[in-house]
Amino acid sequence: MKFLLFTFVGVVHLFSLNSGKAIYKNDISRRTFQEIKEEIARYKDVAKAIINLAVYGKAQNRSYERLALLVDTVGPRPSGSKSLEKAIQIMYRNLQEDGLENVHLEPVKIPHWERGEESAVMLEPRVHKMAILGLGSSIGTPPEGITAEVLVVTSFEELQRRAPEARGKIVVYNQPYVNYSKTVQYRVQGAVEAAKVGALASLIRSVASFSIYSPHTGIQEYQDGVPKIPTACITVEDAEMISRMASRGNRIVIQLKMGAKNYPDADSFNTVAEIIGSKYPEQVVLVSGHLDSWDVGQGAMDDGGGAFISWEALSLIKDLGLRPKRTLRLVLWTAEEQGGIGGFQYYQLHKVNISNYSLVMESDEGTFLPSGLQFTGSEKARAIMEEVMRLLQPVNVTQVFRTGEGTDINFWIQAGVPGASLVDDLYKYFSFHHSHGDTMTVMDPKQMNVAAAVWAVVSYVIADMEEMLPRS
Ligand SMILES: *[C@@H]1O[C@H](CO)[C@@H](O)[C@H](O)[C@H]1NC(C)=O
Ligand SMILES: *[C@@H]1O[C@H](CO)[C@@H](O)[C@H](O)[C@H]1NC(C)=O
Ligand SMILES: *[C@@H]1O[C@H](CO)[C@@H](O)[C@H](O)[C@H]1NC(C)=O
Ligand SMILES: *[C@@H]1O[C@H](CO)[C@@H](O)[C@H](O)[C@H]1NC(C)=O
Ligand SMILES: *[C@@H]1O[C@H](CO)[C@@H](O)[C@H](O)[C@H]1NC(C)=O
Repeated sequence: MKFLLFTFVGVVHLFSLNSGKAIYKNDISRRTFQEIKEEIARYKDVAKAIINLAVYGKAQNRSYERLALLVDTVGPRPSGSKSLEKAIQIMYRNLQEDGLENVHLEPVKIPHWERGEESAVMLEPRVHKMAILGLGSSIGTPPEGITAEVLVVTSFEELQRRAPEARGKIVVYNQPYVNYSKTVQYRVQGAVEAAKVGALASLIRSVASFSIYSPHTGIQEYQDGVPKIPTACITVEDAEMISRMASRGNRIVIQLKMGAKNYPDADSFNTVAEIIGSKYPEQVVLVSGHLDSWDVGQGAMDDGGGAFISWEALSLIKDLGLRPKRTLRLVLWTAEEQGGIGGFQYYQLHKVNISNYSLVMESDEGTFLPSGLQFTGSEKARAIMEEVMRLLQPVNVTQVFRTGEGTDINFWIQAGVPGASLVDDLYKYFSFHHSHGDTMTVMDPKQMNVAAAVWAVVSYVIADMEEMLPRS
């Protein structure tokens, strides 16, 4: 996942419960909630069959094994790279060989940035070679590097207060980790804010919930009219040490060298496959994850897991010989990490049919043992999702939280389409996120089985119900 975990303020629909029946305002459906509840309860056996196949049956560990083969073979898949295009071609064949329908690629132009050789060495108060990762879209330094004194701050407010001290320096942000959406602002805007006060470069403390001296990269954004300066992340350990040194009055000097370069946009694709709906083929439930990753680690967790449980959802449904009334569409996004480039392109192309999208789903915050589903939609749709999640009682994943989201599906959610995402252990997720540690080693086949079962049950039932999810 890139950087958005925005708070979506939906219109809350009021309804009152009256002896098991709900009366919704502006209700387009004449069916009572009790009838909808009964309709959903009839999926109990189908849900059990999906769970049995995914968790205990012959599909056990399949999403994990498939993912391991892909990421061990092609490695990380950064936007614009040959390995991303190789992964897309492999997935295109995989989905066809799996017997899915309407398998095709939808072209997208995507950014191409490469980090090149990079290093940072503290020269004063002692020589110390630092682990760094340049931030996506950063420019490089001159070949001889940038050698400058450090100004360390813990917030943008402190940078403003100490603006006169920043000129000609390397600004180091030692911002505490609060949560991802809050803290990631330092990664995204750190260089721009430092450049505005005359800094030569900026280094951020990695946005991570935990560290064993691991730098965690990610996208950053320049602003028109503000000079572009090189920017990279350093480890939590080094950021804290630099802070301690500064508070002792030490003069700190760092030499930063970055060979980062932006190249012309590259050709890429969103990868699409379907199980075509039996009764309302024009109507869609979309399940998704992104195939691109950062250029470190294997992109196993971010977002190989999300992409592969989404594929697995369709595989499980197909293997059981099920065909929902609506079309189940799998999309493996490209260039999510660069700001949802593939997701935006898909939205632009397909939004003409927005009225026929019942639900958009994206898993991009880990596929560890899920604690439930995050959902954005009307209160009536939420009540329906809560009933659907009851079908997952056998794996004890029944909770429905607020704020379903995902970089690639937010375009639809903001336009009023109900959206869902998977919830799991975010502390673990942000321990490995965008680092060399994002490999198969953090993935667990049993947890992926459960995640895939949740994904398949929700997408199948919503795609097969008599009516689309009601909107606000
Ligand atoms: C699935 O993975 C688990 C955990 O590694 C292992 O115990 C189990 O034997 C595997 N099942 C199959 C069918 O490979
Ligand atoms: C993150 O932390 C900020 C500041 O404490 C808070 O306002 C925000 O709601 C938090 N966001 C999430 C997604 O928890
Ligand atoms: C939406 O689906 C319905 C029924 O499947 C179809 O009649 C209608 O033309 C579709 N609308 C759009 C905008 O494609
Ligand atoms: C929109 O939906 C119609 C069917 O309702 C389909 O024929 C058409 O290809 C869809 N257009 C896009 C761009 O997805
Ligand atoms: C089921 O999940 C809930 C909440 O996620 C948890 O508190 C409870 O311990 C779980 N029960 C079992 C039997 O695992």
